[in-house]
Amino acid sequence: MCGIIGYTGRDNAKDIMLDALELLEYRGYDSAGIALLGEDGTQIMKRAGRVNDLRNLCEEKKPVGNCGIGHTRWATHGGVCDENAHPHRFGKITLIHNGIIENYRELTEKYELEGKLVSETDSEVVAAVLEHFYSGDPYSAIRRTVLKIKGTFALAIMFDDQPGKIFAVRNVSPIVAAATKDGAILSSDVAAIVPFTTDYFVMPEFHVVCLSPGNIEMFDLSGDKAEIEWLKVDWDVSRSSKGGYPFFMEKEIMEQPQVIGETIYPRMKEGIPDFSKEEIPDHILADCKRICVIACGTAMHAGLVGKSLIQAIIGIHVDVVMASEFMYNDPVVDKNTLVIAISQSGETIDTLEALKFARKCGSPSISIVNVKGASIARASEYVIYTSAGPEIAVASTKAYTTQLAVLYLLTARMAMARKLWSKQELSEYMKELSRVPEVMAKVLEKKEEIHRLAGSILNAKDVFMIGRGLDYSILLEGSLKLKEVSYIHSEAYASGELKHGTIALITEDTPVVAVVTQDKLKSKELSNIREVQSRGARVLLLIKENEKLEDDGRFANVFRLPVMADTFMVMPASIVLQLIAYFVSLDKGLDVDKPRNLAKVVTVE
Ligand code: AGP
Repeated sequence: MCGIIGYTGRDNAKDIMLDALELLEYRGYDSAGIALLGEDGTQIMKRAGRVNDLRNLCEEKKPVGNCGIGHTRWATHGGVCDENAHPHRFGKITLIHNGIIENYRELTEKYELEGKLVSETDSEVVAAVLEHFYSGDPYSAIRRTVLKIKGTFALAIMFDDQPGKIFAVRNVSPIVAAATKDGAILSSDVAAIVPFTTDYFVMPEFHVVCLSPGNIEMFDLSGDKAEIEWLKVDWDVSRSSKGGYPFFMEKEIMEQPQVIGETIYPRMKEGIPDFSKEEIPDHILADCKRICVIACGTAMHAGLVGKSLIQAIIGIHVDVVMASEFMYNDPVVDKNTLVIAISQSGETIDTLEALKFARKCGSPSISIVNVKGASIARASEYVIYTSAGPEIAVASTKAYTTQLAVLYLLTARMAMARKLWSKQELSEYMKELSRVPEVMAKVLEKKEEIHRLAGSILNAKDVFMIGRGLDYSILLEGSLKLKEVSYIHSEAYASGELKHGTIALITEDTPVVAVVTQDKLKSKELSNIREVQSRGARVLLLIKENEKLEDDGRFANVFRLPVMADTFMVMPASIVLQLIAYFVSLDKGLDVDKPRNLAKVVTVE
């Protein structure tokens, strides 16, 4: 959702802002703007539309200044128009905001702002409250304002009479900051900072940071100076470029063998799953009576695979809960429930809030997060970082499979901690897990074949995806992928459930994608496929390459998957589903990386 950038230094802030806003486009947005504070005072350029539209406006108006803030807006309060785009200005204050101010109506009334505001946004109200409290001391104005506002916020603020300075404060919504060669920078994302430096810090909540050229200072809300905890970007910076691919999504799909390897191999010590670096004590895995996975979207689909694994191997009950629904179903979690929060960004607000709630109930917690230092990582007791590197395409691919890889490892460690496996069982499982990168690479070699298969659903209006058990879990993800990047309506169905209603929608125009990778479910799955074929459906089947099909002529298309133990077949099969979605989107000429209406990081409830 909204992207934030701020820069102060010797360079022209305008170009830095515009380049950074392009890097933040992937978060999803509908308007963009910058404000520059220079010798001519504060100049604001903003526009509904793309960053390129803003660039054209800046070409025309040529604003100057070495200190600036910039923003990509994903509308929440107020429609998509130039007035509602950020930055907002009130009196001497210019600011950008990510988050939602819940009490903006009360504040409008209390500070008599009716008729004085030019936008419909909650953010402009914050600028007005800051102006109300400002009498030359930015820290005091920020502190007093923060005590009045309720909600989530990442704010970057410039004061007309504080040249060269950017102030920031946050609650929930993230801000990272760093020193550049002769200046300082802040952003909602590490990706926008990486062109300048690999050293950065995550701003703690309710602290005020002041950036000035060559200096960064941080204070808590009582005015005491606070220590900055520096972090280092630990992925290769070339990962944040397309590296010759037309879209990030393709590049990220192709990176999977490597990033899965980087996620699992460092956590295998002499063939044993090892979480000593994360300091996860075995008792946490051995003592829990049940598990509750909290996540959204793709991360939740990873949780569903985890549920199948854990229930089958460990034999304890696992709930997978959509984080956005967690609070509304009177969640039953306690000290015996291990909560696992899964999130690529580590900033999804629903997941974060659900995790905080579970911790208040006394649940031990582990998060599986891709972005270092993210809010969910900080809010949980233990964190396991996936090594997917930056995931720029809105559609999650490599983050999903690295989350699965962590769940495979965690399940094995849990089996060990509970003494459920013999040495041989553990060794066979771990050997198979370590083959995953190589097997995934084999699927990727068949990219062009998958491209041809994707052609069979290119012009479809609706697509159904059917399977049972683990196959059904990954089809939920495959179907989400197709929906979000190709805009084709697609539904994943547990194939046994079809005849309870949905089969009525199957006609000869309906492509059906079926996945059959589990020996114990094969005959039932094949019968269900026959049922849809009898209604004229054209079936694209994904099945193991060693599987004999007596009458494969009845399938419109068959893709043969390299063979692994059934438990691990989701890994090669997932890549095929990702590539199908990708190629359909590509061949439809869509903006694969930035699907309409979607945001990469969902920081509003
Ligand atoms: C994935 O393709 C989606 N864009 C989306 O479902 C995503 O997985 C979800 O919003 C959760 O995000 P997170 O992993 O950053 O928490």
